[in-house]
Amino acid sequence: MDNRTLALKAVEAKKIAHPPYSNFHVGAALLTEEGKVYLGGNIEISSYSLTICAERTAVFKAFSEGERNFKAIAIAGDAPDFCSPCGSCRQVLMDLCGDIDVIMINQKEELKVLKLSQLLPFAFGDKDLK
Ligand code: THU
Repeated sequence: MDNRTLALKAVEAKKIAHPPYSNFHVGAALLTEEGKVYLGGNIEISSYSLTICAERTAVFKAFSEGERNFKAIAIAGDAPDFCSPCGSCRQVLMDLCGDIDVIMINQKEELKVLKLSQLLPFAFGDKDLK
Protein backbone atom coordinates (compact mmCIF):
# COMPACT_ATOMS: atom_id res chain seq x y z
CA MET A 1 0.00 0.00 0.00
CA ASP A 2 1.39 3.42 -0.86
CA ASN A 3 1.83 6.24 1.65
CA ARG A 4 -1.03 8.36 0.30
CA THR A 5 -3.55 5.50 0.47
CA LEU A 6 -2.57 4.80 4.08
CA ALA A 7 -2.67 8.51 4.95
CA LEU A 8 -6.19 8.85 3.54
CA LYS A 9 -7.26 5.94 5.75
CA ALA A 10 -5.96 7.95 8.73
CA VAL A 11 -8.14 10.87 7.59
CA GLU A 12 -11.12 8.46 7.46
CA ALA A 13 -10.27 7.21 10.95
CA LYS A 14 -10.89 10.69 12.37
CA LYS A 15 -14.58 9.76 12.08
CA ILE A 16 -14.18 7.08 14.78
CA ALA A 17 -12.43 9.44 17.18
CA HIS A 18 -14.26 10.37 20.39
CA PRO A 19 -12.91 13.73 21.60
CA PRO A 20 -15.89 15.31 23.45
CA TYR A 21 -13.65 17.63 25.51
CA SER A 22 -10.98 18.93 23.12
CA ASN A 23 -13.10 18.40 19.98
CA PHE A 24 -9.73 17.68 18.29
CA HIS A 25 -10.15 14.59 16.13
CA VAL A 26 -7.11 12.46 15.37
CA GLY A 27 -7.07 9.39 13.15
CA ALA A 28 -4.34 6.79 12.78
CA ALA A 29 -3.89 3.93 10.32
CA LEU A 30 -1.29 1.29 11.16
CA LEU A 31 -0.04 -0.93 8.33
CA THR A 32 1.28 -4.45 9.02
CA GLU A 33 4.01 -6.09 6.93
CA GLU A 34 1.29 -8.34 5.48
CA GLY A 35 -0.72 -5.35 4.29
CA LYS A 36 -3.48 -5.28 6.90
CA VAL A 37 -4.55 -1.90 8.27
CA TYR A 38 -5.71 -1.19 11.82
CA LEU A 39 -7.48 2.11 12.42
CA GLY A 40 -7.57 4.13 15.61
CA GLY A 41 -9.09 7.36 16.84
CA ASN A 42 -8.35 9.33 20.00
CA ILE A 43 -10.73 8.47 22.83
CA GLU A 44 -11.17 11.08 25.55
CA ILE A 45 -12.28 10.30 29.09
CA SER A 46 -13.93 12.74 31.54
CA SER A 47 -10.94 12.30 33.84
CA TYR A 48 -8.80 13.83 31.13
CA SER A 49 -5.48 12.11 31.82
CA LEU A 50 -7.06 8.74 31.00
CA THR A 51 -7.45 9.81 27.37
CA ILE A 52 -5.76 7.65 24.77
CA CYS A 53 -4.31 8.96 21.51
CA ALA A 54 -5.30 7.64 18.09
CA GLU A 55 -1.87 6.08 17.51
CA ARG A 56 -1.98 4.02 20.70
CA THR A 57 -5.56 2.95 20.02
CA ALA A 58 -4.44 1.58 16.65
CA VAL A 59 -1.30 -0.15 17.90
CA PHE A 60 -3.02 -1.73 20.92
CA LYS A 61 -5.82 -3.00 18.69
CA ALA A 62 -3.33 -4.59 16.33
CA PHE A 63 -1.03 -5.98 19.02
CA SER A 64 -3.91 -7.51 20.93
CA GLU A 65 -5.03 -9.26 17.73
CA GLY A 66 -1.61 -10.91 17.58
CA GLU A 67 0.08 -8.65 15.03
CA ARG A 68 3.82 -8.25 15.55
CA ASN A 69 5.28 -6.98 12.27
CA PHE A 70 4.57 -3.42 11.22
CA LYS A 71 5.57 -1.23 8.34
CA ALA A 72 4.12 2.25 8.80
CA ILE A 73 1.65 4.41 10.67
CA ALA A 74 -0.25 7.33 9.19
CA ILE A 75 -1.65 10.16 11.33
CA ALA A 76 -4.20 12.87 10.57
CA GLY A 77 -5.31 15.65 12.92
CA ASP A 78 -7.84 18.47 12.87
CA ALA A 79 -5.41 21.39 12.61
CA PRO A 80 -4.20 22.70 9.23
CA ASP A 81 -0.63 21.58 9.91
CA PHE A 82 0.78 18.05 10.29
CA CYS A 83 -0.16 16.18 13.48
CA SER A 84 3.02 14.82 15.00
CA PRO A 85 2.73 11.90 17.45
CA CYS A 86 3.08 12.83 21.12
CA GLY A 87 6.06 11.68 23.17
CA SER A 88 4.18 8.85 24.86
CA CYS A 89 3.01 7.45 21.53
CA ARG A 90 6.55 7.66 20.11
CA GLN A 91 7.81 5.43 22.93
CA VAL A 92 4.92 2.94 22.60
CA LEU A 93 5.36 2.76 18.83
CA MET A 94 9.12 2.23 19.13
CA ASP A 95 8.65 -0.57 21.68
CA LEU A 96 5.84 -2.40 19.85
CA CYS A 97 6.46 -1.60 16.17
CA GLY A 98 10.17 -0.77 15.91
CA ASP A 99 11.57 1.88 13.60
CA ILE A 100 8.59 2.16 11.23
CA ASP A 101 7.72 4.95 8.81
CA VAL A 102 5.56 7.73 10.25
CA ILE A 103 3.39 9.39 7.63
CA MET A 104 1.67 12.64 8.53
CA ILE A 105 -0.99 14.26 6.36
CA ASN A 106 -2.10 17.90 6.65
CA GLN A 107 -5.35 19.50 5.56
CA LYS A 108 -3.99 20.22 2.08
CA GLU A 109 -3.39 16.45 1.84
CA GLU A 110 0.37 16.99 1.66
CA LEU A 111 2.47 14.23 3.23
CA LYS A 112 5.45 14.35 5.57
CA VAL A 113 7.26 11.04 6.03
CA LEU A 114 9.86 10.38 8.73
CA LYS A 115 11.35 7.31 10.34
CA LEU A 116 10.20 6.89 13.93
CA SER A 117 13.87 7.07 15.00
CA GLN A 118 13.99 10.63 13.63
CA LEU A 119 11.13 11.54 15.97
CA LEU A 120 12.59 9.59 18.90
CA PRO A 121 16.38 9.54 18.63
CA PHE A 122 18.41 7.64 21.26
CA ALA A 123 15.24 5.81 22.30
CA PHE A 124 15.09 3.89 25.53
CA GLY A 125 14.17 0.26 24.91
CA ASP A 126 14.40 -3.31 26.14
CA LYS A 127 18.12 -3.31 25.27
CA ASP A 128 18.62 -0.80 28.10
CA LEU A 129 17.08 -3.13 30.67
CA LYS A 130 19.76 -5.82 30.22
N1 THU B 1 -3.85 13.33 20.21
C1 THU B 1 -3.73 12.18 19.49
O1 THU B 1 -4.65 11.36 19.43
N2 THU B 1 -2.57 11.97 18.83
C2 THU B 1 -1.54 12.86 18.76
O2 THU B 1 -0.55 12.58 18.11
C3 THU B 1 -1.62 14.14 19.47
C4 THU B 1 -2.79 14.31 20.35
C5 THU B 1 -5.12 13.58 20.89
C6 THU B 1 -5.11 13.49 22.39
C7 THU B 1 -6.30 14.36 22.74
O3 THU B 1 -7.48 13.59 22.68
C8 THU B 1 -6.36 15.40 21.65
O4 THU B 1 -5.56 14.89 20.59
C9 THU B 1 -5.85 16.78 22.04
O5 THU B 1 -4.58 16.68 22.60
